[in-house]
Amino acid sequence: MMGKYIDLRSDTVTWPTPAMRQAMAEAPVGDDVYGDDPTVNALEAFAAELLGKEAALFAVSGTMGNQLALMAQVGRGDEVILSERAHIVWHEAGAPAILAGAQLRCLPVRDGQMDLKQMEATIRKTPEDIHSPRTALICLENADSDGLVMTPDYLQAVRDLADRYKIPVHMDGARLFNAAAAGPLTAREIAAKVDSIQICLSKGLCAPVGSLLVGSADMIRIARRKRKILGGGMRQAGILAAAGLLALRDQRERLVVDHENARWLAAQLARYPDRFELLRQPSINMVFFRLKNHPVRPDHLADFLAAKNILINSHDEGVFRVVTHYWVTQEDLEQLVELLVS
Ligand SMILES: Cc1ncc(COP(=O)(O)O)c(C=O)c1O
Repeated sequence: MMGKYIDLRSDTVTWPTPAMRQAMAEAPVGDDVYGDDPTVNALEAFAAELLGKEAALFAVSGTMGNQLALMAQVGRGDEVILSERAHIVWHEAGAPAILAGAQLRCLPVRDGQMDLKQMEATIRKTPEDIHSPRTALICLENADSDGLVMTPDYLQAVRDLADRYKIPVHMDGARLFNAAAAGPLTAREIAAKVDSIQICLSKGLCAPVGSLLVGSADMIRIARRKRKILGGGMRQAGILAAAGLLALRDQRERLVVDHENARWLAAQLARYPDRFELLRQPSINMVFFRLKNHPVRPDHLADFLAAKNILINSHDEGVFRVVTHYWVTQEDLEQLVELLVS
């Protein structure tokens, strides 16, 4: 448990591990804008190697990583095809319009996947027509914010479609390693299906700050310049990268524990079908449910639990999302269940 609270609002709340704090204190550093920071260089090289790509770039946040992917691959007025539920659409403050100047073509999703026929119909077929915008990028999110993991067949089908029209594919892999822990594909196998991928170090992997954009050396060269434009050229960033290295080296494998904890919680709630409607079986570290005949009203549940030192976000149209992570134990979840079923 994290100090006073059991914090189930998100895996973004995770603190660095003691080993990370130690590594941060001892990290060799240099000026990363000169390319001199050995720890940042080691992190970028490690990430590129891990995902089987040519290069990587350390970014301040997942939002910055996604936006750099757009800025490096999309021209002003070009179109990006993506899910209408994507983080890029909902939670990045309209950045694609401001930074890349992109026009977003948002498609509905079912079970985390856009319909491929609809995706193909959305691709612009006449880029030479002066009236027509050009389709510059397809974006996927895996695992997505509904906790869904894309299937190998779907990833391959998107890849094939994108290749047919020579369109690059970017993946918002904020939770790529959760998707990999859920299987069947490894992180490297998933990354092989896309041209660029953004991975977050500061969610379930516990680093305090940072994401990486990973892809071709050419794309990363452009993104590095764009990062400078955004003021994201950091100096002795090795202090942060040191935690990131441990996140990538030591924290990936244990994400299965968070997934097991989520499944355990879901199983407990499923024992009370009169009180809870589970939206789906968890594939990753997220449990989604609605209250049915529960003594606490949905609007009051977050306050009710906060009074007992358990934090959850308030519901979104009746749906609660509880997120497990490194600092949440099964005993913590037992406390939650006890309160929810009493
Ligand atoms: C799917 C997804 N993409 C991107 C991000 C952005 O990451 P950051 O908060 O580091 O900007 C998040 C953050 O929660 C996310 O869930």
